[in-house]
Amino acid sequence: MNIRDQFPSLKRKINGKSVVYLDGPAGTQVPQRVIDAISDYYKTSNANTHGQFASSHETDQMIQEVRNKLAVFLGAESADCISFGQNMTTLNYSLSRAIGRVLQPGDEILITQLDHEANRGPWLALRENGVVVREVRMQPNGTLDYDDMANKLNERTRLVAMGYASNLFGTVNEVEKVRDMTYQNGSWLLLDAVHAAPHMTMDVGAVDCDFLLCSAYKFYGPHVGILYARPGLLDSLPTDRLRTQEQHAPYSIETGTLNHAAITGVGAAIDFIASLGNGPNLSAHLLTGMAFIHHHEKELFHRLVSGLLNVRQVKIYGPSYDTWPRCPTVSFSVESSTASRVCRTLANEGIFAWDGHFYAIRATEVLGQIMFGGFVRMGLAAYSNLEDVERTIEVMKKNYD
Ligand SMILES: Cc1ncc(COP(=O)(O)O)c(C=O)c1O
Repeated sequence: MNIRDQFPSLKRKINGKSVVYLDGPAGTQVPQRVIDAISDYYKTSNANTHGQFASSHETDQMIQEVRNKLAVFLGAESADCISFGQNMTTLNYSLSRAIGRVLQPGDEILITQLDHEANRGPWLALRENGVVVREVRMQPNGTLDYDDMANKLNERTRLVAMGYASNLFGTVNEVEKVRDMTYQNGSWLLLDAVHAAPHMTMDVGAVDCDFLLCSAYKFYGPHVGILYARPGLLDSLPTDRLRTQEQHAPYSIETGTLNHAAITGVGAAIDFIASLGNGPNLSAHLLTGMAFIHHHEKELFHRLVSGLLNVRQVKIYGPSYDTWPRCPTVSFSVESSTASRVCRTLANEGIFAWDGHFYAIRATEVLGQIMFGGFVRMGLAAYSNLEDVERTIEVMKKNYD
């Protein structure tokens, strides 16, 4: 079936016009199969885990199956490396509290100016324990300053917490290079892959990171946070947990009852991506499915950015659009208007785009854009099409050229 036909929300109209969803970086639309999986779960298998009856068995089995799928999706060794949480931020806070307990005063953590606050706040909070948190600089073009990172890494650095890709500029960071740098001093590498995971294949084995976090609502699923931890690592951390819950990975960071229905939906979101590819097994389907999404988004993104570059009042931030790999996300300011007014103008035409700092507030401050209400951000997804892009450029050109 055609991709767009699978997304019921694409039928929505505003002022008689079909909605153009450019808000994917803040959460994508979901295909019918995700909606069905969630509703079927409530119809047939709604129960708590580890009971002696059918619906509970089905729930246990379903959660395990989704962990298995996520292990394939992220390139993890096994489902035991995959934990669920309410969202990425909450999981990262739980992880930071646990890591804080094994660090000594004077130990150091590196964070970056480019990151979303969800990968800064939890680490900055450890300053209370005497941990030194250093910030890697961002360059004016929205890429990380790797020389600055090298200068700030030292034998006391225990963790580098950085984004895989920027949710503000779409910059894909040089994570392999950083991994090489961290090998030298033995620090852990934690990647916030919330913005990257919807657009490119994640392979924790190849990147050799210690932790990776992502969020299913950014890749066509419901609101569920996901944590990958290297085998054995989570077991070595004193997470906050009840004595009544399972004490080992992947459960030891999963407090309370999970959102089972949403987890079913995560499995269906992975099936959706797999359905865009082909091959002998899930891994091959996901690899080719993601390659398809990447290629589709890349073509449209070129069209979108070259169109925006032709709008006189638009100033685009971040790496140049032909820098690749990158995510199909662009942020810009408009000379005669605030970001919120631009987004209201677009909204009246049925075009949904975000304004603000998108929690990448440090980068927005560094670029001096915070006092102007941040940026306008547009992001593409598997369901975006040429008409979406052309309508957007037309409205921008009409109002801001
Ligand atoms: C790059 C990035 N990291 C982290 C987050 C936070 O994710 P969550 O909403 O799952 O806590 C977001 C959400 O926008 C994000 O874009």
